[in-house]
Amino acid sequence: MSTLVIIGAQWGDEAKGKMVDVLGSEAELVVRYSGGNNAGHTVIRDGETFKFHLVPAGILHTEVTSILGGGMAICPKSLLEELEQTRKQQPELGRLIISPAAHVVFPYHKLLDQLEESARGDNKIGTTSRGIGPMYTDKVQRVGIRMGEFVRPDVFKERLKTVVEFKNRLIQLLGGEPIEFEPLFEEYSQYAAQLAPYVVDTESELQDAVQAGKQVLFEGAQGTFLDLDHGTYPYVTSSHPTAGGACLGTGVGPRDIHHALGVAKAYTTRVGEGPFPTELDNEIGQQIRDQGHEYGTTTGRPRRCGWLDLAALKASCRINSLSGLILTRIDVLSGVGDIKVCTGYKLNGELLKGLPYTTADWAACEAVYETLPGWSGDISGSRSREDLPQTAQDFVSFVEDFCGVKSAILSVGPDRKETIFCDRSLLWG
Ligand code: GDP
Ligand code: IMO
Ligand code: MG
Repeated sequence: MSTLVIIGAQWGDEAKGKMVDVLGSEAELVVRYSGGNNAGHTVIRDGETFKFHLVPAGILHTEVTSILGGGMAICPKSLLEELEQTRKQQPELGRLIISPAAHVVFPYHKLLDQLEESARGDNKIGTTSRGIGPMYTDKVQRVGIRMGEFVRPDVFKERLKTVVEFKNRLIQLLGGEPIEFEPLFEEYSQYAAQLAPYVVDTESELQDAVQAGKQVLFEGAQGTFLDLDHGTYPYVTSSHPTAGGACLGTGVGPRDIHHALGVAKAYTTRVGEGPFPTELDNEIGQQIRDQGHEYGTTTGRPRRCGWLDLAALKASCRINSLSGLILTRIDVLSGVGDIKVCTGYKLNGELLKGLPYTTADWAACEAVYETLPGWSGDISGSRSREDLPQTAQDFVSFVEDFCGVKSAILSVGPDRKETIFCDRSLLWG
């Protein structure tokens, strides 16, 4: 009996996609539970690159059923395009089903995302412009349209009409062009017809699988510090990427989540605006960006790079009750010289017990560092922990000791084979 949540333990892009692909072959179901196509999950197999935004990275395993859970934000157009693209790359895919409770992203959400960002001026969040915030706003405001309604033409028409009228008032207030109902309805009805066969009672299917003791893998999107509640608010996304989100976004209860693994880079990156105490706005930051090709999978934006923030990672271990760590991109730090890790923050000269709360405190706090010796050379061929240079092994041990959580897996390159399994008992066992 085992269920396993894979979450991003930092600010996203930790290599969750690679890990879901690696562990997906051991699962019967792979379930996305939050966010939408703001996510960009990369899988590289034998030199071929797959990019997933909405489709679970488990879909490449033909025996696995992939689920888009009720907590998700689904852009029907992007989903259909992504399925088509993935089928071009690999004609036979696993089965995909969608929860009727998942909410639909419409063009007015994307338009509002852009208009709201412009209105924020210097305080912009740096969103992915995928309409995610405005869609979740509708959900909370109780005017959103769910997949179960979207695929019922009679219900959909009435609901869309009411919502479009309401949204147009808002769009015009922000200086945008109103959306025309008829063409929108026509276009989206076609998508609804294509997606209708996928919309089934995923919650029952998932519950049956969990009760039957099948191995279920939950694919987190974004990262802990982009969580609406636990992140660096307001520079966050509008959903719950943390392990608790797996319960909310799928209907599986907390006692049925058995393991949680946190994926973390050996350094830190963030895209978009917001606090980043360990950011390296210098040559080392640029070296990490170059060596790690740190450009966004979804938007292509250069990712901001900095040292590993262990104070944040330790908090992430607590927030997600992590049973194990997956440290990725250890290869990228080769040749950068001595490596710093942040072990805490000082605010007004005082060491903080936890993390700062307000944007002002985040901006004013100072990272406290410890310096560790680095390593050099190509380490992507390492297949066991002992194959790594001693300094890299010591770095991994330092992270584990500081966080009080052991590594389940280490990653030394983007390909699925560039993976080191440290402790399999932390996975499903
Ligand atoms: P996700 O959003 O967490 O799935 O991560 P992304 O796919 O957005 O970004 C992770 C990037 O790192 C992708 O381009 C992966 O191919 C790549 N990657 C994954 N693991 C490693 C690794 O250990 N080393 C290196 N150099 N790249 C990796
Ligand atoms: P994956 O799953 C990194 C960031 C955006 C922005 C903030 C809010 O690939 O790790 P949104 O469009 O969600 O309203 O933007 O969140 N963001 C991500 N950053 N990886 C992601 O997903 C992200 N999804 C959203 O850059 O700062
Ligand atoms: Mg990503």
